Amino acid sequence: MTDVVHITRVGPIALVEIDNPPVNAAGAAVRQALWAAIPELDSDPDVQVIALYGAGRTFTAGADIREFGKPPIPPMLPDLCQRLEDCQTPLISVLHGTALGGGLEMAVATHARIGLPGLRVGLPEVALGIIPGAGGTQRAPRLVGLEAGLEMITSGRHVPAEEALQLGLIDRLDSTSATPRDAARTAAQAVLEGALVTRRTGDIDIPIPADVIARWSAEMARKYPLLPNRKAAVEAVAACAQPIRDGVREERRVFNVCLDSPERAGLVHAFFAERATSRIPEAGSPPRPVGSVGVIGGGTMGAGIATAFLLAGLPVSLSEQDAASAAAARDRIAGHLEGAVKRGKMTGETRDITLAKHLQVDTNLDVHAQADLVIEAAWEDLETKKSIFAALDGVAKPGAILATNTSYLDVDSIAAATTRPADVLGLHFFSPAHVMRLLEVVVGAQTAPDVTTTAFALAKTLRKVPVRARICDGFIGNRILNRTRMAADHLLLMGASPAQVDGALERWGFALGPFATLDLAGLDIGWAARKRRAPTRDPRERYLRLADRICEAGHFGRKTGRGYYRYDGGARQEDPEMLAWLQEERAEQGISPRALGDQDIVDYYLTAMICEAAALLGDGIALRAVDVDAVLLFGYGFPRQRGGPLLQADMLGPQTVLDRIEAYAKADDHFWQVPPLLAQLAASDGRFAKLPDSDTPRPIHPTGDA
Ligand code: CAA
Repeated sequence: MTDVVHITRVGPIALVEIDNPPVNAAGAAVRQALWAAIPELDSDPDVQVIALYGAGRTFTAGADIREFGKPPIPPMLPDLCQRLEDCQTPLISVLHGTALGGGLEMAVATHARIGLPGLRVGLPEVALGIIPGAGGTQRAPRLVGLEAGLEMITSGRHVPAEEALQLGLIDRLDSTSATPRDAARTAAQAVLEGALVTRRTGDIDIPIPADVIARWSAEMARKYPLLPNRKAAVEAVAACAQPIRDGVREERRVFNVCLDSPERAGLVHAFFAERATSRIPEAGSPPRPVGSVGVIGGGTMGAGIATAFLLAGLPVSLSEQDAASAAAARDRIAGHLEGAVKRGKMTGETRDITLAKHLQVDTNLDVHAQADLVIEAAWEDLETKKSIFAALDGVAKPGAILATNTSYLDVDSIAAATTRPADVLGLHFFSPAHVMRLLEVVVGAQTAPDVTTTAFALAKTLRKVPVRARICDGFIGNRILNRTRMAADHLLLMGASPAQVDGALERWGFALGPFATLDLAGLDIGWAARKRRAPTRDPRERYLRLADRICEAGHFGRKTGRGYYRYDGGARQEDPEMLAWLQEERAEQGISPRALGDQDIVDYYLTAMICEAAALLGDGIALRAVDVDAVLLFGYGFPRQRGGPLLQADMLGPQTVLDRIEAYAKADDHFWQVPPLLAQLAASDGRFAKLPDSDTPRPIHPTGDA
C-alpha cells in the first residue's frame, strides 16, 4: 500500500486503485507503486483476478506531462504496460472519466476493459508533439483494426464510451454499478464465473498492408508539414506487423525522436499556458455571483459577446442607440446562434427559447438595471466610453460589475467617470467574440479583487483563456501587434513584398501573415487611426506610406476586392500596382531593396515580438512570461507548436535575441532598443520562464544580479 496506489482484497479478487489527484497521472510514484504491487499479486496463489481502477474523477489522464524533458525515472511506462500484459493472473481494468494517453495504454495492456457511462478514451499524444509511447500504437490497432487505429492515433480525438465499445476498445459498458470500485468487483466476479473473457492484446495479429501505411503517411505529411510527429505516428503503427515486444521497441524509438523535438516543447508549453494564466494574485477573493449580463452596443463585438454568454446559458440584455441598430444587433445574434445550431452546438429548440426568453434588446440603458455584469462594447473612443459609463453609473444596481471591452484605452480614466471605480475593469474580447478563446482581463488601479476573480470565473464558464493585464496602450496583445506591424513594414522597406513576408511567416506556422490579416480585417480602420496620430508621430519613426496609398486609391482589403493583394477569383494574388507604389516609397526614402530569405523575415518579425513582450513584462503589464505566450497563442494565431514568443526567446537564449537587436539597431536605433529586462537575463543567462510573477514594474539589475 502506498499513497498513490491502494490495494484491497475481496476473497480471490485484488482491487488496485490508482489515487493520484487531480487526474491520476501516471507519474513516477504511480509507476513505481504498480511495478511493485502487480508482480506480488500475480505470484500470490490466493489472487485469482486483479482489477485496476481509478479514484476520484477519472481513470488516468496518462503520463505525467510535467516529467517530459526531464531525466526519465524508472520504471518506464512501456515496461509497466508490458508487465501488466504479461500477468499470468487475469488482469482487468475499469475506466471512468477519461482514459487518455498512457492511461488508455495501461488499459489496453490489461486483459479486458469495462467502461462506465460518460467515459472518454483517446490517445491525444499527437496534440503534445509526441506519439503514444507506451504501446498505444501497437495495442490499440490490434483491438480496433488498422484504419480505425490510425484515425484515433493521428487525430488524438476523444472517443465516447459507446463508440469505444463498438470499436472493440472496451469490452463492456457497465451502467448499473455506482462506483468504479463496484464495477471492478462486478467485472472481476464475471471473470471468475467465466462470463467475461480475458485475452492478451499483444497476441492478436492484424494485417498491415503497405499501401494503407503509405497512404496515411503521405496524407499526414501533406496535412501537417510542420508537425512531423503526425507522420511518425503512422510509422510507429506500421510496426504492428512485428511481434508486440519488437513493435513496442520501434514505437519507443520513434517516440524518443518526437520527445526531443522543438514541436513537443512548444505544444506542451501551450498545454500548460492555457491553464497557468488563471493563477492570479487575487485568487483568494471569492467571485461575485453572475446570473445575468448586459451588453452595451450590438455591433460586431457586442453581438459576439452577447452570443458567447447566451451560448453559455446566461440571459443577456443588450442596448443600442436606436431601433434600427437594435434590430440589426438581434439579427446578428440570431445569425450566430443559427451557426451554432448548424455546428451541432445547440438545438434549434434551444435557439428559439434563447432568442425568445434569454435575450432582451432595447434602446434604453435602463434595460441593464438588474444585470450583475454590464459590458460596454461601443465605439473605441475615450469620450464616448466615459459618457456611457457616467450614464451606466446611474442605472446599474449596486455591486454590479462594469466592464469595458476597450482594446487600447485607459481603463482607469473610464472608471473615473463613475462613482464606483472599484467595480470597473476591462474585458477585452477578440473578434469573433463567441469563437476566439482569449479574454484579456484588464485590472485597473482601483479594481476590487473580487471583480477580477469574477472575470476569471466567468471566463471559465465561457471556456475562454483569461489573461490578466495591467493598463498600457494596447495592453498585452495589441501593444505587441502594433510593434510587429511596424516590423512587417520595415521588411517591405528593406526589400520584401507583402507576399514574401506573409509566405515566410505562414510557412513558419502562422495561420495568416500580417498583410493578409490586415486585408481580412479591413484597412480603413487603421487608416483613420494613422491620420489621427500623424501630427504626433515621432519624426525618427521609419514610416512606410504604402497602406495610406492603398486606402487613398479606395482599396480597403478583401471587402473591396483589393488591398495589399488583389482578390479577383477569391484567392489572394500579388498586385503589380501596389508593388510599384512600394518601389516608389523605397526610392523616395533612398533605399535600394535587397533580397530577404524566409529566415531573415521570421527572425526580424519574431525579434520585434520578443522585444515588445520583454518590455511589457518588465513594465509589469503581464504577470509572467507564459501569460504573454498565451495571449499570442489564443488571440493572435501564433503557431501552437512554437509555444509563444517568450518560449522562443528562452529556446534561442536571451543573449542571441540581444545580439539580433543590436545588429538591427545599426540601421534603426530608434525602433530597436534593448529592453532592460532582456539585458538582465542575457547578463545572467537567465530565462523568462524562471522570472517570479510581478504586476508592478520589475526592478532591473543590468548586470544580472538579483
Ligand atoms: N500530466 C500532468 N498534469 C496533468 C495531466 C497530465 N497528463 N493532465 C492534466 N493535468 C493537470 C492540469 O495541468 C491541471 O493542473 P492545474 O490544476 O495545476 O492547472 C489539472 O491536472 C486538471 O486538469 P484540467 O484543468 O485540464 O482539468 P479538466 O477536467 O478540464 O480536463 C483532462 C481533464 C481532459 C484530463 C485534461 O487535463 C487533459 O486533456 N489532460 C491531458 C491528457 C493527455 O494529453 N494525456 C496524454 C499524456 S502523454 C502520454 O500519456 C504519453 C505516453 O504515451 C507515455
